[in-house]
Amino acid sequence: MNNIIIGLQWGDEGKGKIVDYLTESSDVVIRGQGGNNAGHTVIANGTKYVLHLLPSGILWDDKLNVIGNGVVIDPIGLVQEIERIEAQGIAITPNKLLISDRAHVVLPLHKELDAAREAALGDQKIGTTKRGIGPAYADKVNRCGLRIVDFLDREFTSQQIKRRVVDANEILVRHGLQTFDADEVIAEVYAAFERLRPHVSNTIPALHTAWKSGKNLLFEGAQGTLLDIDFGTYPFVTSSNTTSGGSCTGTGLPPTAIQGVIGVCKAYTTRVGSGPFPTGDEGLSEYLHGLGREFGATTGRPRGCGWLDTVLLRFACMVNGVTGLAVTNVDGLDEYETLQICTSYDIDGEIHTLPPADRKAWDRAVPIYETLPGWKSDTTGCKNFEELPSQAKAYLARLAELCDAPIAFVGVGPDRLQTLVVG
Ligand code: IMP
Repeated sequence: MNNIIIGLQWGDEGKGKIVDYLTESSDVVIRGQGGNNAGHTVIANGTKYVLHLLPSGILWDDKLNVIGNGVVIDPIGLVQEIERIEAQGIAITPNKLLISDRAHVVLPLHKELDAAREAALGDQKIGTTKRGIGPAYADKVNRCGLRIVDFLDREFTSQQIKRRVVDANEILVRHGLQTFDADEVIAEVYAAFERLRPHVSNTIPALHTAWKSGKNLLFEGAQGTLLDIDFGTYPFVTSSNTTSGGSCTGTGLPPTAIQGVIGVCKAYTTRVGSGPFPTGDEGLSEYLHGLGREFGATTGRPRGCGWLDTVLLRFACMVNGVTGLAVTNVDGLDEYETLQICTSYDIDGEIHTLPPADRKAWDRAVPIYETLPGWKSDTTGCKNFEELPSQAKAYLARLAELCDAPIAFVGVGPDRLQTLVVG
């Protein structure tokens, strides 16, 4: 059985934990989009690992991990990540990690261009992770990007980088930002590329061989549906297709290779960066931050928190074709007296059960809530779904009903053992 794991909200849903859990029965774990803007925290055997570009299967000895063609790779960042994870005792060998030769490369200058663009947008800024993701994807679509395969030809790549540095410096000077020396950039990225070179290959035939020979494949989505370049809260989105379709275009495996789509959401909603957040709630934010929860794995930024929004979740389940929901962080609500679930928006007196496309309509969207009783008890020790308090079960049942998708997993804490399997 081949599954995709997708975030259903604005990222940070706890996908890493579900991926790690499902990896046990998988042979290959594949990333197909995004870059090191993603931050997956996985706690395995009591140790905390933060992964950005590496698929979560890297924490296992016997799994193949693939960084697919749809990912944008910052070679310097990836080498740092490999070294950090290796220092935690995980060996990363070429037979354990394959890197697509078609993946595009994030250059140091893309990060500065990201910062320049954000500065130019002023109070309209996206709130990016400043990892250069947007500028790298823009170069890809603009057909002036560099791919990993290009690095095999140093002369060609050096020429391209030199040209790119001239263009970038023009923009950076205007913004009073750091400019680049082409030779330094070339030396720096090549030093990183040399570490990555043994992992580079045409990953598409390897993935098809694994599929055809009946191996279990797991597609690890990064970010979330509402950050999708097509379906998200545009323009406050990332630059890739974070929805299930991105798993095909980002890996070279077709839709017919995929049977299951596990959609991961929190029992409430969070978002980082700018943009609409109708159910955002200061009280809930303060409460969760006070518990030490909801600080970004990549940037450390506190995330905005809000009530569960099933207008957004319903849409996310539709566009991804979710076959099972994984609801994480249920324990975050353990002490709350009463809980709210947003079932629709009132926009100018009209009821909407799906999110609007018009960016201006978001400002006028008033969430309509249903109030449910909290469970006021500790769920972190629950060993199975049946042990959950009845109010928690009712809350989850209502969530599933409003989204028209069945619950497959419930998360009650960060450890692998705190993932409850339903049904
Ligand atoms: P970018 O992907 O760095 O360009 O950022 C675009 C938007 O996506 C910003 O709102 C970021 O905060 C958000 N974003 C990107 N990656 C993640 C993630 O892994 N989790 C949550 N938000 C993300």
